[in-house]
Amino acid sequence: MSKTKVLLLGAGFIADIHIESYKRFVPEAVLVGIYSRTEQRAMETARHHGIEKYYSDWKKAILDSDCEVVDICLPNFLHCQAACFAAEHGKHVIIEKPLCLNMDEADLMIETCRKYGRKLMYAEELCFAPKYERVRKTIKEGAVGKIFQLRQCEKHSGPHSAWFYDIEQSGGGALMDMGCHAFGWFRWMLDRAKVTSVYATMRTLYHIGRTKAEDNSVAIAEFEDGTIGIAENSWAKQGGMDDRIEVYGNEGVVYADLFTGNSALTYSQKGYGYAMEKAGSTQGWSFTIFEEAFNQGYPHELAHFIDCVRNDKQPVSTGEDGRAVLEIMLAAYQSAKTGAKVKLPFRPNVKKPIDLWLND
Ligand SMILES: NC(=O)c1ccc[n+]([C@@H]2O[C@H](COP(=O)([O-])OP(=O)(O)OC[C@H]3O[C@@H](n4cnc5c(N)ncnc54)[C@H](O)[C@@H]3O)[C@@H](O)[C@H]2O)c1
Repeated sequence: MSKTKVLLLGAGFIADIHIESYKRFVPEAVLVGIYSRTEQRAMETARHHGIEKYYSDWKKAILDSDCEVVDICLPNFLHCQAACFAAEHGKHVIIEKPLCLNMDEADLMIETCRKYGRKLMYAEELCFAPKYERVRKTIKEGAVGKIFQLRQCEKHSGPHSAWFYDIEQSGGGALMDMGCHAFGWFRWMLDRAKVTSVYATMRTLYHIGRTKAEDNSVAIAEFEDGTIGIAENSWAKQGGMDDRIEVYGNEGVVYADLFTGNSALTYSQKGYGYAMEKAGSTQGWSFTIFEEAFNQGYPHELAHFIDCVRNDKQPVSTGEDGRAVLEIMLAAYQSAKTGAKVKLPFRPNVKKPIDLWLND
């Protein structure tokens, strides 16, 4: 079987998860190259995983690695330029969330991939997480009747890398980083229903002095049929990663969570190696997770894109989906600034979402 050749841009946290996912679960793909900002890290990661080529220049990596797919696991501010450069050079693109920093970038990415006939997948893994997909299928069978409210929470005590806290590189804080999952998942659950308005509130309470961005937010999106989606996001929540959903219908309700609900409850006096993402400590009670990448849907997401590339299918999550999510997030930052609901369509002329909240 010929394998689809993938170049990984990034060798950090999410790239590690993608590597594990490709290697264990996507036999149709082969990693032919990896980029990291530092050559040492790129070399070590390549050697460790048996990846043939490594680079500390991402453009050179795209030009030199003979890949068919570029998998972009870079900080947010690089998403647009890396995606466009890849498509212009004949590569299909899968891009980590959030899609990019503003609507002009989103349109450019979508248009460039269209122009060069390349696929663009917006990698929202919650559309693939097995437990959440089980919920979605149950709901499609009519288990809870008509949905009137969705809630999705993603919370932890703050990201692992400095760039997340630098608004020029990230474009925003907890909402930008994790609210995108909520809005992506709401749209997925509601068959891409249109959002008509967004209300949000946010503040910086835990990482004061470290970032100008918000580290805690709540946003409410109203859909055209009146359904509401509540997104709760935090970089201030202690005790490890939390990712949960609630689906309320007129005939039932479903609750599910990806981390504590997929773990062994452990009590340890001494502590032990690893419990779960961003767990502060393993002493005392902790949630010992297993198959962390699998449970979040990464292998399924990447296998899906490789299938799309090999068999010329349309990804279930596209650049347009990423754009729609970005528009909702922009409206949320505007709402948090003004205190009013913001109606969509919303296309502010800003470089990045957080500007709407910070600027006078
Ligand atoms: N789907 C998810 O739930 C999820 C989880 C984590 C991260 N992400 C997304 O993945 C992307 C990468 O995040 P991460 O957590 O892997 O970050 P990271 O800091 O762990 O890794 C970033 C990588 O990009 C490179 N890099 C960093 N700064 C750079 C710069 N200025 N110029 C060029 N290269 C640079 C680094 O060398 C590193 O290889 C982000 O867009 C993030 O939002 C998604």
